[in-house]
Amino acid sequence: MSVIILGIESSCDDTSAAIFKDDIILSNIVANQDVHKAYGGVVPELASRAHQQNIIPVVEKAIKDADINREDINAVAFTRGPGLMGSLLVGTSFAKGFALANQLPLIEVNHLHAHVLAHFIKEDENDTDQPEFPFLCLLVSGGNSQIIVVRDYLDMEIIGQTIDDAAGEAFDKCAKIMGLPYPGGPLIDKLAKEGNPEAFKFNKPRIANYDYSFSGLKTSVLYFLRDELKKNPDFIEENKADICASLQKTIIDILMDKVIKAADETGITQVALAGGVSANSGLRNRLTELAETKKWKTFIPKFSYTTDNAAMIAINGYHKYLNKEFIGQDAAPFARTEF
Ligand code: KG4
Repeated sequence: MSVIILGIESSCDDTSAAIFKDDIILSNIVANQDVHKAYGGVVPELASRAHQQNIIPVVEKAIKDADINREDINAVAFTRGPGLMGSLLVGTSFAKGFALANQLPLIEVNHLHAHVLAHFIKEDENDTDQPEFPFLCLLVSGGNSQIIVVRDYLDMEIIGQTIDDAAGEAFDKCAKIMGLPYPGGPLIDKLAKEGNPEAFKFNKPRIANYDYSFSGLKTSVLYFLRDELKKNPDFIEENKADICASLQKTIIDILMDKVIKAADETGITQVALAGGVSANSGLRNRLTELAETKKWKTFIPKFSYTTDNAAMIAINGYHKYLNKEFIGQDAAPFARTEF
């Protein structure tokens, strides 16, 4: 018997709903929030207000585009955390209300696990290029940088993570220092294509094990630019592409050095990327090069499933449904969570 899952995602500034029939996606609707652009970052209060406006039309469109009836849905899966509390509350409350009204079981989803499971989203039956267990997943987003050993759909171990800023934050904060608009990651990626990655050297952290640190890089860029601007007020303007290329190379070096160490030490040869930063073309190219030299099998999710989306919540919900992992109506969201 087929299982139909409604997935709801509202952890940050994207309101999303998706319908899955088993592990095949029928619809995935994402409403972005342009309101934050003027502020140089996500404003939590504005995000939760926008989620309130978006959630019902987004869910209605997901059901309509999937061409199913509301009564066909077997369970509701929602992002319980981590994320912005006000944003999570909207998705959680909606999911609980929908489940109660339609007498459906409720499934909590860890947003980070969902990013990893984005690799298993199938658009049709022939979509079979998926990692096999165990594999390593480098999860890099605006809020997280982790290396995860994925043993099964619901069996994951974080073996390394950032002790301060995330990789996406490093991109965004360095872009801000350079006077680029938010989110800076995609812009640095674009400008880096025209620049020389060896033009400037930035400090790399010395952190034990598989952990990351990016706050020192931000300070290194800040001091470097401050000193250069004293000598030449047009330094950033004249060297924008080279600064971006050098900065991007440093971030990729920091990320991939630890992934190489993890692969060498665990003996795992399948490596996947997940999260918003996996859209970075330099990171994608580096992974492809490493696949050749290290004889890894590598996986990069489709662009639409790298940023926040409900398809990844629904696929996680599908596997929890098969395991009968349901929760009660008393579930509250968690801003920071390890559940
Ligand atoms: O996973 P995600 O969509 O959500 C959050 O964690 O909020 O990740 C967003 C992050 C931002 O920091 C953004 O600058 C970064 O992903 N990002 C990129 C690129 N596209 C998005 N960073 C570098 N290069 C890109 N092409």
